[in-house]
Amino acid sequence: MSLRIGIIKGDGIGPEIVTEAIKVLNKTGEIFDFSCDFKQLLLGGASIDVHGVPLTEETIAAAKQCEAVLMGSIGGDAKTSPWYQLEPSKRPEAGLLGIRKALNLFANLRPAILYEELKGACPLKEEITQGGFDLMIMRELTGGLYFGRRETKEIDGLLTAIDELTYNEDEIRRIAKRGFDIARKRRKKVTSVDKANVLDSSRLWRKIVEEVAEEYPDVTLEHMLVDNCAMQLVKDPKQFDVILTENMFGDILSDEASMVTGSIGMLASASLNETKFGLYEPSGGSAPDIAGKGIANPIATILSAAMMLRFSFDRDQEADAVERAVSQTLRDGYRTIDIMSEGKIQVGTKEMGDLICERIHK
Ligand code: IPM
Ligand code: MG
Repeated sequence: MSLRIGIIKGDGIGPEIVTEAIKVLNKTGEIFDFSCDFKQLLLGGASIDVHGVPLTEETIAAAKQCEAVLMGSIGGDAKTSPWYQLEPSKRPEAGLLGIRKALNLFANLRPAILYEELKGACPLKEEITQGGFDLMIMRELTGGLYFGRRETKEIDGLLTAIDELTYNEDEIRRIAKRGFDIARKRRKKVTSVDKANVLDSSRLWRKIVEEVAEEYPDVTLEHMLVDNCAMQLVKDPKQFDVILTENMFGDILSDEASMVTGSIGMLASASLNETKFGLYEPSGGSAPDIAGKGIANPIATILSAAMMLRFSFDRDQEADAVERAVSQTLRDGYRTIDIMSEGKIQVGTKEMGDLICERIHK
């Protein structure tokens, strides 16, 4: 049985971290008796270098032939990279937004977990984090401000920029359902985040989320305004299970949530459509400053591969085995530089991948 997996190595540390995740998938396949058929795809800066554009029809078509895509990271240093001399619609990030839209990846899952072994890296006070926290941001990914009409023009003699924020009820309903489905498998609580005291789009969001909630009487729903949520994430992150929110709010809150875990190099993410297909990537960026040095943390990408096994291939046992191997490696004291602390053993990207592979078993 062969899993058809697209690989976007991407930019910056992308190629290094993806290489380790591929190793982990191959090793998991040896143990659980499956093989992977990897297909390399170009996106972002790597695509600009070859084709002059960040996303081609060829990449979209090839991705559609795959059952899932594993991605490293996209983008470079905006100050020094020639990619950022191009107009915004031709830069690496436009490729990422383009593939999200083309593949209809409307549901973005971003877990933020405080790892027991890495508690020391968490910037919050110990009394706040005691007992750990484990929340999931469910971000709508193909609507809202990101995909609205935008233009800059002169109005009444003044240069004026317009970005439109649109959501229709179907877009809200489908992401809300995903949020409730996930909550059902977790601690059964959804916090829907909006700005309903100001925005019409948020008032519609709230109305539709409430309708969907009626189909999930076993799941508790609460609403929270986005500014309050930003505050609550540092005040009491334990209160959250699933945070359900629109595109822009989710972008901002997910960076905040990952920071409070203290270990962004550990966090995976998945972007899903209506089918089993998903695009899986680490939550962190391309970190061009450390690219090619062999020191980047590959764990977020490896955990993204585990999410892929779980969501796109229904291979829970295999995903569990990868996650266990990661935890065991941390318990054994191995750390990449970003999560290093006193008394631990510092290793590079490749070594970390090898150590995790050694610990995968049934
Ligand atoms: C993310 C990133 C992207 C986004 C950028 C690179 C366009 O910040 O995946 O969160 O804003 O969605
Ligand atoms: Mg972001």
